[in-house]
Amino acid sequence: MSETSTASTTPASAGGTGLRPRILSGMQPTDGSLHLGNYIGALRQWVQLQDNFDALYFVADLHSLTVNPDPALIRERTRRTAAQYLAAGVDPAQSILFVQSHVPAHAELGWLLQCQTGFGEASRMTQFKDKSAKAGNDGATVGLFAYPMLMAADILVYDSALVPVGEDQRQHLELTRNIAERLNSRFGDGTAVVPDAHIVKAGAKIQDLQDPAKKMSKSSSGGKGVVWLLEDPKKAAKAIKSAVTDADEDYGVRYDPEAKPGISNLLTIFSAVTGRDVDSIAAEYDGRGYGYLKVDLADAVVEWLAPFQQRAHTFLDDPARLDAVLTDGAQRAAALAEPVLQRIYDRFGLLSPATRLHAVSAAVAATATTATNASPAGRG
Ligand code: TYM
Repeated sequence: MSETSTASTTPASAGGTGLRPRILSGMQPTDGSLHLGNYIGALRQWVQLQDNFDALYFVADLHSLTVNPDPALIRERTRRTAAQYLAAGVDPAQSILFVQSHVPAHAELGWLLQCQTGFGEASRMTQFKDKSAKAGNDGATVGLFAYPMLMAADILVYDSALVPVGEDQRQHLELTRNIAERLNSRFGDGTAVVPDAHIVKAGAKIQDLQDPAKKMSKSSSGGKGVVWLLEDPKKAAKAIKSAVTDADEDYGVRYDPEAKPGISNLLTIFSAVTGRDVDSIAAEYDGRGYGYLKVDLADAVVEWLAPFQQRAHTFLDDPARLDAVLTDGAQRAAALAEPVLQRIYDRFGLLSPATRLHAVSAAVAATATTATNASPAGRG
């Protein structure tokens, strides 16, 4: 699995135009805002990679259903997530930006992949083990268990060559590769493209500011050690100034994640929001104490957040424009996914892809007519 952007796969049909390899990633709309870990571990890479790859970025709304979110919140959070992709620099003229549930091929391939995954290997997913242990037997849904196979479908349905994610998704990517290899050995070479993970060395695991032993996430410290991208920047500054640093003797500022996880985490964040090199930041603060570093980092984060939030709000204040971007993205994504799904259906031995295609296009045409005549209650 690659640690950098050099994809080692030789995809049968990956590459969108056939000229550039295809890259794909997504995030769950589980909160009202993404956090700094999502940005540094993944989103920042998405923006950089879109120049050299055919990129597809989506809001993983179906994934968020595994924990039974309040229906009133999902639509808003889906738009908020998409607006943050755009604010970070995902360019819809360059990349395909869409919502997972708008492209039914994801869920369809998900079922096929569930039928190709062992109960034992799905049970070994650490995120499933952690989340189901917390939720208890009745609280944990079958969807939570099936989630990695849906994620594999998200990736395989586009013949993706590369998947930029944070460290916590590594195991899911390994499962995806195993499933792809299995499909090729059971149904013939070229059934699936085996994707590579793109996991950066620095920033793939941003730690919680209150507990540098844990990754930054809503559940890590009850949210106290998290910087939310859409929160009041004053709160973000406060969270940084009260970050727990390392209880060592030397108060040295250097990048050493083993010996100094707290300071190294702050240096990584500092570097991400300023574009400066970690070592030059460390050299500037070494010997001056942690307090100076935290105060300046708080300022740097606020300075970064302000324009980010402004950009996000220009999209949130104009939902029609945002929805138009997502609709266009879904159409472009579906056009790429459908032939891949057809190929895999065919390899599995399902009857007559041509009949299916005909049925799908008839249904789409009928839905479009209904939608122009009446808009369903509660949508919008
Ligand atoms: P999600 O929504 O939990 O997280 C979105 C992305 O952010 C990364 N990330 C982090 N990176 C660094 N430090 C952190 N503290 C941190 N927390 C989260 C995650 O690794 C991820 O890249 N299953 C995925 C969404 C998904 C997906 C996919 C991704 C669904 N289908 C297909 C890639 C390809 C998830 O729940 O990510």
